[in-house]
Amino acid sequence: MRRFSLFPWLAFTALAAFYVSLATAVSGQEPLNIQEKTAYKLGQAIPVSCLNRTIDTGEHITNAQGELQYIPFPTCSETGRPLELYFGVEKDVNCTIDFITDPLFHLLEFYVHNDAPLTCRIPSRPLPSSSSTFSPSAAVDASAPAGTAYIPLIIALGGILQSSHIHVANNLNVLLHAAPLALAPGTIEAATAYSVHTLTQHTRIVIGDSLPLRLSVRWYPTTALPSGWTGYGGHLYLSTLFYCGCSAGAATLICIAYFRGVELPRRLRSYGKERAFGSEGGRYGGYGYGVANGNGNGYGIGKRD
Ligand SMILES: *[C@@H]1O[C@H](CO)[C@@H](O)[C@H](O)[C@H]1NC(C)=O
Ligand SMILES: *[C@@H]1O[C@H](CO)[C@@H](O)[C@H](O)[C@H]1NC(C)=O
Repeated sequence: MRRFSLFPWLAFTALAAFYVSLATAVSGQEPLNIQEKTAYKLGQAIPVSCLNRTIDTGEHITNAQGELQYIPFPTCSETGRPLELYFGVEKDVNCTIDFITDPLFHLLEFYVHNDAPLTCRIPSRPLPSSSSTFSPSAAVDASAPAGTAYIPLIIALGGILQSSHIHVANNLNVLLHAAPLALAPGTIEAATAYSVHTLTQHTRIVIGDSLPLRLSVRWYPTTALPSGWTGYGGHLYLSTLFYCGCSAGAATLICIAYFRGVELPRRLRSYGKERAFGSEGGRYGGYGYGVANGNGNGYGIGKRD
């Protein structure tokens, strides 16, 4: 009887001890939670790489295995590294490409002329091998293990192509959607970038110039876009209308109270006084008028004579 009741306890204790030791052994060598390990932390750098293209046709370049060749975004002089975005960090980023080489100039011509898109991509989750240090020297992103999911980041670069130079609309918006926290924390779901002021604000470049890119980076916690349109001519919200209504009501109440409590009694009093002095006032008035009139007439007559 005692043996039977003791046995489950012994088994449970032994099993628990086994799992605890297993867990410690595993955590000493590799992470228990792979999901956690491969999620971006707030502010973690996200490398941007773009399709390499031939400068004569703008065709994308593939490697020996037939895979598209992605190369790091050109180096920004501000950081000394290829362009990086930071998970969940909304800010304006300047990325100045110091020297537009001949090949890059020709590629920019393709982008601005819409012969080929500026096709870039970012890893959906941190790259296991080079999550913290993205090596700019690694020309091909083949170091990324197979199965690393990338999110396309097409940069719609606006501008005007001229025979000797290009006007590039260098102010860009960068929009990034994270996956909902409940579904996949620290994961990127979608991204896009596009020139703004494409018709009015350009920087003129020739080979050898620098190209200052001004990026406005915004993050969204889901794939849904917030509604941003509140109509032209300012911000008229329901709360504003409610506030206006309340103010108008309060003002009306104060006016009524003032009129009935102060102004009306005062008017009644002065009206009473006026009535009381009414006959006298009339008499004086009549008298005064008579005098003045008489004088005037007399003077007038005297003058005319
Ligand atoms: C980016 O460059 C512009 C023009 O030089 C400057 O006004 C702005 O402050 C810079 N922004 C950042 C975030 O460095
Ligand atoms: C891009 O492709 C061109 C043409 O094949 C090549 O010369 C160049 O080295 C490539 N760029 C990088 C960064 O690998």
